[in-house]
Amino acid sequence: FTMTAALLCFLLAAPLLLVAGSPVHKSNNGTVPLVLWHGMGDSCCNPLSMGAIKKMIEEEISGIYVISLMIGKNVVQDTENGFFMDVNEQVSMVCSQLAQDPKLKGGYNAMGFSQGGQFLRAVAQRCPSPPMKNLISVGGQHQGVYGLPKCPGESSHVCDMIRKALNSGAYTDLVQKHLVQAQYWHDPLNEDLYKTHSLFLADINQEKAVNETYRKNLQSLEKFVMVKFLQDSVVDPVDTEWFGFLKTGQAKETETLQESVLYKEDRLGLAAMDKVGKLAFLSSEGDHLQFTREWFTENLLPYLH
Ligand SMILES: *[C@@H]1O[C@H](CO)[C@@H](O)[C@H](O)[C@H]1NC(C)=O
Ligand SMILES: *[C@@H]1O[C@H](CO)[C@@H](O)[C@H](O)[C@H]1NC(C)=O
Repeated sequence: FTMTAALLCFLLAAPLLLVAGSPVHKSNNGTVPLVLWHGMGDSCCNPLSMGAIKKMIEEEISGIYVISLMIGKNVVQDTENGFFMDVNEQVSMVCSQLAQDPKLKGGYNAMGFSQGGQFLRAVAQRCPSPPMKNLISVGGQHQGVYGLPKCPGESSHVCDMIRKALNSGAYTDLVQKHLVQAQYWHDPLNEDLYKTHSLFLADINQEKAVNETYRKNLQSLEKFVMVKFLQDSVVDPVDTEWFGFLKTGQAKETETLQESVLYKEDRLGLAAMDKVGKLAFLSSEGDHLQFTREWFTENLLPYLH
């Protein structure tokens, strides 16, 4: 069944390409390259997570070029950097890696897992070349998090430490600079602190000022797909996976993206994208990043062609 879906997709896409004349964005045997960014506590190449996903995609889309980003020189550094390396630096490292890769010249799709989702959105907003086509955020935290209820994987001791640091002063310069999770910590009871001191998230979400370049670049995407996990026990609040969050001034009631000031003032161009059908809100049953191969091929594979 899954192969049929992939094949059908290909058959449907092929005549369009012929009509369009030159398949400018296509390379690597008619496939669009794919860039993956792993989540916290994970690495580029874990055979049980990103390694398996990369392999599955390569099996489903014959000839596809897939890069699973490694932040650092090896898998150990890559995992540590997911906790401790300045996110703005990580994003600029990735931007230069992508710009130097000749295979990405014609454009690429991007798929981020958990925090990799908002990091790849920063790549889309800051680095328009090579062009990102579809951005797929799988359990990403686009309005940040307020809480760290559970750690993914084996990192619970690291998380205990992180939780302490976040509670004692997420917006102090020291913690901001050295703790990845602080850089997307969003305290609804202290919005002003967040807006002025968040080094990463407040910038890409245009909380301080509106950078027209960010709006323009984000709107150049063909699709921005957001996946929410319906029984997520790691991300708090889970609404952030669809760009919603807690209402300002309290920590109980949430609001959707469409109800937010960000959307109403359209500070990021998301309302404009929504209007022309560029936003997709998908959901998967299960806990954080839990999905079946069937769910993946049915729901996400179509965005990788
Ligand atoms: C891709 O195309 C090249 C040359 O056109 C061919 O040699 C190669 O086997 C193809 N790869 C796949 C996976 O189809
Ligand atoms: C807007 O973002 C672009 C891309 O990151 C950057 O080069 C530029 O300096 C920013 N402009 C302002 C006013 O911050």
